[in-house]
Amino acid sequence: KIKNIMAREVLDSRGNPTVEAEITLEDGSTARGISPSGASTGEKEAVELRDGDQSRYQGKGVEKAVAGINQEVKRTVIGSAFADQVAFDQVLIDLDGTPNKARLGANAILAASIAFARVNAVSKKIPLYRQLIERDTYVMPVPCMNVINGGRHADNNLDFQEFMIAPHNAPSFKESIRMGEEVFHSLRGLLKSKGYYTGVGDEGGFAPNLKSNEEAMEVILEAIQKAGYKPGADISICLDPATSEMWQDGKYLFYKSDQRQLSTEELITLWDKWIKQYPIVLLEDGLGENDWKGWKQMTAALGNKVELVGDDIFCTNPAIIAEGIREGIGNSVLIKLNQIGTITETLEAVKLAQANNYNCFISHRSGETEDTTIADLVVATNAGHIKTGSGCRSERISKFNQLLRIEEELGAKASFAGIKTFKI
Ligand code: PGA
Ligand code: ZN
Repeated sequence: KIKNIMAREVLDSRGNPTVEAEITLEDGSTARGISPSGASTGEKEAVELRDGDQSRYQGKGVEKAVAGINQEVKRTVIGSAFADQVAFDQVLIDLDGTPNKARLGANAILAASIAFARVNAVSKKIPLYRQLIERDTYVMPVPCMNVINGGRHADNNLDFQEFMIAPHNAPSFKESIRMGEEVFHSLRGLLKSKGYYTGVGDEGGFAPNLKSNEEAMEVILEAIQKAGYKPGADISICLDPATSEMWQDGKYLFYKSDQRQLSTEELITLWDKWIKQYPIVLLEDGLGENDWKGWKQMTAALGNKVELVGDDIFCTNPAIIAEGIREGIGNSVLIKLNQIGTITETLEAVKLAQANNYNCFISHRSGETEDTTIADLVVATNAGHIKTGSGCRSERISKFNQLLRIEEELGAKASFAGIKTFKI
């Protein structure tokens, strides 16, 4: 039985307010959950409720979302026992009563949903990943580390948002993350030696002003080699250009570099060229959320060469994913808890994708916190790959550290995903 539930306004990694919820059971178990927050958000994401009161945090306060938990949700759930996560989340969904969680806010609902999963794990004295999905063996993910940041995540001249390295030729997660960190440090030295700025963007990747998007690829490949690894054989590249942000009047505008405008066909041709030229295994949001027709074309052209992940186009929404599967859109789904707003619906999205031979790529948001739920989620779902930032900044590293603990605890029950996890 739930003895108490309460929420508070805490801060995310960008210094913006977000919601933390805390649940205490009658057996004394207590746990918390915190919602992350995106910057390049999809139009169909569940609603993040913000106060809009310009006198606090430039309108970004979340006191209304907090009050929803402290009053309505508390009145509804206190003293009740819930059979499982599905039952608890359904109460929150029904109480909200809107299709997109606009009334109570997905930020409030998700924080409560995470706290509920965690408090049950605490009560049963089991790890969170086992509370989410019980299995005999689990797969440890390849960490796709976002080592160069651009787009809406950095004030530099790179149009594309995320340049990631995937250290897949490793026996374990522990060795994989070591390889990734070695490349990260090698990249810092290389950028410095070329006279570039080595400050980092929102997700902890470097944010230099480079000559072109291509130069980002070249410098990463050089850093991989300098660290003693083979591009492709040991470490491959994943990209999230986040092209919904570039979509303007039916074309893709290179809004931060040379102001080029490419048609859908021209952008698909560019990706095809890049896939031939560089060891790219995964391309997320290669086209924008309002370009369904283009996505079909892109999937037909590139779907057997590279993992095509849909982020903004699916928004972790089972109904939209089902439509995408029917229409042959992509071959992989980005999974972000706060795009849909509950643990239950997130697991439903994963199940639907996996049942239809789509991959799931588990993801953080650009605004993160110390909450490490996605580390347990990627293990629970055997999704095989995760993106949770670069090689620095504790709101990113906390997920890697949690994965190190999980791998150690699982011992022989864990295997490392490796290259076979990618849909190529
Ligand atoms: P966001 O970016 O968290 O700012 O939306 C992440 C992504 O586009 O994958
Ligand atoms: Zn994305």
